[in-house]
Amino acid sequence: MCGIVGYIGKKDAAPILLEGLKKLEYRGYDSAGIAVQEKQGIALVKKKGKLNSLEEILKQKSPRGNVGIGHTRWATHGKPSTPNSHPHQSSEGEFVVVHNGIIENYLELKNQLKKEGYVFDSETDTEVIPNLISKFYQGNIEEAVRKAVDLLEGSYAIAVLSKKEKEKIVAVRKDSPLIIGLGEDEYFIGSDIPAILDHTRNVYILDDNEMAVLEHQGVKTYTVEGEELDKEIFNVDWEASMAEKGGYDHFMLKEIHEQPETVKNCINGRLTETDVKFEGFTMDQEELNKYNKIYIVACGTAYNSGLVGKYAIEKLARVPVEVAIASEFRYRDPIVDENTLVIVVSQSGETADTLAAVRESKAKGARIIGICNVVGSTIARESDDVIYIHAGPEIAVASTKAYIGMITVQYLLAIYFARIKGLLADDKSREIISSFKQIPEQIKEVLEKNEAEIKAQIDNYADRENIFYIGRGLDNAVVEEASLKLKEISYIHAESYPAGELKHGTLALVEEGVPVIAVATQTDVIDKTLSNIKEVKARDGVVTAVVTEGVKDLDDIDFRFEIPATNELLAGILSTVPLQLLAYYIAVERECAIDQPRNLAKSVTVE
Ligand code: G6P
Repeated sequence: MCGIVGYIGKKDAAPILLEGLKKLEYRGYDSAGIAVQEKQGIALVKKKGKLNSLEEILKQKSPRGNVGIGHTRWATHGKPSTPNSHPHQSSEGEFVVVHNGIIENYLELKNQLKKEGYVFDSETDTEVIPNLISKFYQGNIEEAVRKAVDLLEGSYAIAVLSKKEKEKIVAVRKDSPLIIGLGEDEYFIGSDIPAILDHTRNVYILDDNEMAVLEHQGVKTYTVEGEELDKEIFNVDWEASMAEKGGYDHFMLKEIHEQPETVKNCINGRLTETDVKFEGFTMDQEELNKYNKIYIVACGTAYNSGLVGKYAIEKLARVPVEVAIASEFRYRDPIVDENTLVIVVSQSGETADTLAAVRESKAKGARIIGICNVVGSTIARESDDVIYIHAGPEIAVASTKAYIGMITVQYLLAIYFARIKGLLADDKSREIISSFKQIPEQIKEVLEKNEAEIKAQIDNYADRENIFYIGRGLDNAVVEEASLKLKEISYIHAESYPAGELKHGTLALVEEGVPVIAVATQTDVIDKTLSNIKEVKARDGVVTAVVTEGVKDLDDIDFRFEIPATNELLAGILSTVPLQLLAYYIAVERECAIDQPRNLAKSVTVE
């Protein structure tokens, strides 16, 4: 996730671009840059670091011109650095591009372009785009952009400047957001509405495979095939502070709604019909067989994601997995050696205890795979291999989309390991992978189907002192995170239990009206979970269950949230979503500081 902006009009472009980027900083902040058409050519200014590093340079000397594009980066391919910052230009400097998204086939394209003599200055996937445009340019920039994007696989929102056609910006999108602001004799590009809100409230919202051409006399929109469109103007009636949150009241809710995109970004380019592949990470059967144990080490939500990872890896790849809390792991003299694989999970890649666990394990000779969100973070750098979750910046302290990204990657790893070991036949693998590809749409479905109902029922939970969560197997892993989410943001005491364990103590706390939330998506244990639900009902508890649609015979349930049918192993992604919403709306009802809960921090870099 990055932010892109563009301006064409009568004013100086640079300050407008910088202001626009400031409004998009929540989309990425590891480096930034702008490109402005000057009389002599295109002036490029870019810098690693937060926007104020770029601002400092622009204060000394700012490019002058009325047409420009800008970018604030959240690294995906290539560490945060000045050469990897956008805008990127073609080898000969004629075409300049800013890009938000991921080009999955960039390596292939890059190698081909290199053979044809194009030179690359960065490690990014983006740099292939200006070079492809340069390759195809024959006097018409729109045509060259069309031919270039036709070769791209993955997601992109791009804006292009060219020395050849100076008074023009071409923008195109697929699977990454892009809007065009329509002012008076001035036009804007933004990844999101806040970028343009100071200038206009009239926008075109580009859909996938649509192109916009911005010139001084106006904006034309086309399909990517070149057919002119008659797009409707959308009038924005949000306040500025709301616009930053995409119209949502809190970042947490926005991030919950971004989860279809998170899973898409996470699986894009990593799934073939029957296999999983990771860029820059491989393991052969001999090596995997050498590992007699896998540790998943992490803190907080990342730890909870490991519980799902353990379930999936053990189920598919039949290697014993222990999930360890990082702050405990490092002090217990863990039994780790060269026959241990250590997977560390961290959104920020900076959590002190998790980092210490990396160092401890490394010193003992283990191979370390990092699963991180922040590219170039310390844990990403110090791990032997890193697999990114590509969730984009997560602003709310309570993690939602990063958790979904973490479990998605761990599911992918489980399939990957099982295939290496020959434990997952082609047909079974094809089945899981095909279910995986449906998950983004199914998350949307879960959100659409459940949100209104959850809001309507919120009184049943919001004034409670205790809420218990139960589940078995995979569902038990899911409820660990669900209960953490609730306590973090609503300050209600919440605990999760393996459903069968309830009767060994906690059942004593269940009395009339106590809410118990059960997740029951796994057919092999659903009857057992239903028996546990009966135990709760017999004590007059109020039961809410998350179940797969179509499941019958649930007479004892007071409230029911449904998820669409999927491969049962993957149900963990879908069943998490209604419980995130439930936690969120309970916290709204209790008027809590949702995005910044008391006493908590997003990244904990002390022990
Ligand atoms: C803090 C955050 C949690 C997070 C945990 C681990 O406690 O509030 O949301 O799960 O740190 O952070 P990490 O960046 O390592 O995933």
